[in-house]
Amino acid sequence: EQIEKSGYEHFMLKEIFEQPKSVHDTMRGRLLVDEGVIKMAGIWDHIERFKNANRIIIIACGTSWHAGLIGEYLIEEYARIPVEVEYASEFRYRNPIITDKDVVIAISQSGETADTMAALKLAKERGAFIYGICNVVDSSIARITDAGSYTHAGPEIGVASTKAFTAQLTILSLIALKLGKHNGNLGNAEFMSLIAELDAIPKKIEDVLSSTHELVQNIAKDFVNATNFLYLGRGYNYPAALEGALKLKEISYIHAEGYPAAEMKHGPIALIDENMPIVIIAPKKGHYDKIVSNVQEIKARKGKVISVVNIGDTQVSEMSDYVIEIPETSECFSPIIASVPLQLLAYYIAVYRGANVDQPRNLAKSVTVE
Ligand code: AGP
Repeated sequence: EQIEKSGYEHFMLKEIFEQPKSVHDTMRGRLLVDEGVIKMAGIWDHIERFKNANRIIIIACGTSWHAGLIGEYLIEEYARIPVEVEYASEFRYRNPIITDKDVVIAISQSGETADTMAALKLAKERGAFIYGICNVVDSSIARITDAGSYTHAGPEIGVASTKAFTAQLTILSLIALKLGKHNGNLGNAEFMSLIAELDAIPKKIEDVLSSTHELVQNIAKDFVNATNFLYLGRGYNYPAALEGALKLKEISYIHAEGYPAAEMKHGPIALIDENMPIVIIAPKKGHYDKIVSNVQEIKARKGKVISVVNIGDTQVSEMSDYVIEIPETSECFSPIIASVPLQLLAYYIAVYRGANVDQPRNLAKSVTVE
């Protein structure tokens, strides 16, 4: 086992550090920047199904569901196809309206999640075209779908999903850009600039890992005894906030909630006092001014702000108690980068609390029962 961990203390840390490679591997052979092409046989072979789809329904659980929410933003923004994102466990039991004009995308790292599998079977029975985004090759979900794309993240052993999540975001980015280019909603210049930006993501993850690793360890030490956390983000980074909160609760057992930052004033603001740590994801591109006023509201109530901002940021940084800097990228790809220090934060808080990071209590890597 020590050999498999390649010198890392836990699989989770190893997998966090593998992300420059896993994101790169997921794009390899698909993103051909010089030729200005995204090659995805699974999409291309069924392009008419996607083109004529009334809507796309994404079904998933847990972290994969968070990836699905970001997929909704991506596909609606660039391909202009309506998208709904559903928890598989809700979808399968609510007699959903599905037609043969629907495309259903299932996202699952393991490809074995019972609820996702059951939801897919239902969608298939009702005539939808079903597409899988799985990490495990030849898994049950991969086998029952009509077509699909594998994330090439490599085996993920830690129960808390890290590299599979960023690989799912990579695939969803490729799908959205490919569909957008094909159906004419995404002009050539914008397409070219987005694919160049996507291609640069692995290097930016590498930079984030080296520039924030030590800093995040130190921040984690100050929150070992926290009992609650709020995670806030807007737009593409709202699901990233949900994912940050899920990572913390599953491995550190600290209660954490993710929220869209603007929803704070509709309830969670009542929780804020000097004992409440609040992680704010605030990259320059993406409702930055709105986030600035959210941070002002938090500071007025003495909340402890840990901000994830772009390098060189001043406004949010000056108001923050802790600042984690990440490189700039297009707004739509920012969750891929912003998630990395949040994974590290959850990891180190859990380690300092003495928790079993790779196998947290009550959780299984793959939930094969209801
Ligand atoms: C992620 O950290 C969790 N362990 C969990 O939410 C997981 O994402 C969920 O069970 C879905 O699993 P899947 O992607 O293998 O279907």
